[in-house]
Amino acid sequence: MVARQVPFFNYRALFESQEKQITDAVVDVMRRGAYILQQDLAEFERRLREFLGVKYAFGVADGTNALIIALRAAGIGTGDEVIVPSHTYVASAASIHFVGATPVLVECRDDHLIDPAGVRRAITARTRAIMPVQLNGRTAAMDEIMAIAAEHGLKVIEDAAQGLGSRFRGRFAGTFGAAGTFSFYPAKLLGCFGDGGGVVTNDDAMGEQLALLRDHGRDARGEVVAWGTNSRLDNLQAAILNIKFQSFAADLDRRRWLAAIYDEGLRDVSGLLLPPAPGSDPDHHDVYQNYEIEAERRDELKKHLEDRGVRTIIQFGARAVHQYEGLGLTHYRLPRTELLYRRALLLPMNTSLSDDDVQYVVDCIRGFYGCH
Ligand SMILES: Cc1ncc(COP(=O)(O)O)c(C=O)c1O
Repeated sequence: MVARQVPFFNYRALFESQEKQITDAVVDVMRRGAYILQQDLAEFERRLREFLGVKYAFGVADGTNALIIALRAAGIGTGDEVIVPSHTYVASAASIHFVGATPVLVECRDDHLIDPAGVRRAITARTRAIMPVQLNGRTAAMDEIMAIAAEHGLKVIEDAAQGLGSRFRGRFAGTFGAAGTFSFYPAKLLGCFGDGGGVVTNDDAMGEQLALLRDHGRDARGEVVAWGTNSRLDNLQAAILNIKFQSFAADLDRRRWLAAIYDEGLRDVSGLLLPPAPGSDPDHHDVYQNYEIEAERRDELKKHLEDRGVRTIIQFGARAVHQYEGLGLTHYRLPRTELLYRRALLLPMNTSLSDDDVQYVVDCIRGFYGCH
């Protein structure tokens, strides 16, 4: 018998912890017959705008469509190159592909975020944009990225699917570039009960384009004035997100607390590279969408944890974007990213975990490396 079960993520707990509130909200939306572009979505968009301090926020179908729409609104298309890290979900690169542009893959650094030096090396005459990915609830060194973009006249589209609430020098992920995007997939920092996404901007022209693109090119009067698509966050999901938003700040604090337990318990274990600890660098306010470590003897450690009831995963199906055979990008050589994929492991990190759960994971890892 194992002492304890620590699932990687408990989807049912998301509902159970707020069952009455959520059920009431769902029934309310249904009774009003308020399904598409209704007041709950408008309310959610207002909350998102106010939380991030941005001028425009749109709820859209999902984080992938948010990226596609943002790229289109920025005028990125056929013949253009967009620089993106290879350590990301395939959706970041796929969004570039689907607007007709070419994803150009670059390295990450030890904090697992885009390497500005790699960005500089990847710039060609066709480069039009940089897509930093604010992975694991951390914002990249956006001062360097914005400086490179300004120097070369490039747009910045931030994939902040995993970054809502994280900050660099006090500024929120998603608010640095021409547009920023978010995912509200259930396991995300702010998750709904299905697919959901958001896109934000401070730019009036981008705001106008995004509004048209996500609703069939229709303006405020319902007139079709441009080509658009259908990418609207369901009003029902927005109503659920409005409830989740109430505890969002506390949820982020909870994640930082759990990250501190991991850090405290694992900092002295040799053979591990941990994410930067909360508060360890005044430039970064990290919110730990994931707790991604690098571990020597990673596969053995994963098995050791599994045998003790602790579920872990390797992010993105254990492949960087350039390592998927089917995408035609296997010619890239990105040694830092490849090393990461030999050693990376996501430890359980979510608001359903107790302090004891996390301490148990720590103890199991210490046991594996013979640290007592
Ligand atoms: C970094 C990153 N970008 C984009 C996405 C796509 O978001 P969605 O699943 O909502 O389409 C994800 C989702 O996992 C992600 O982690």
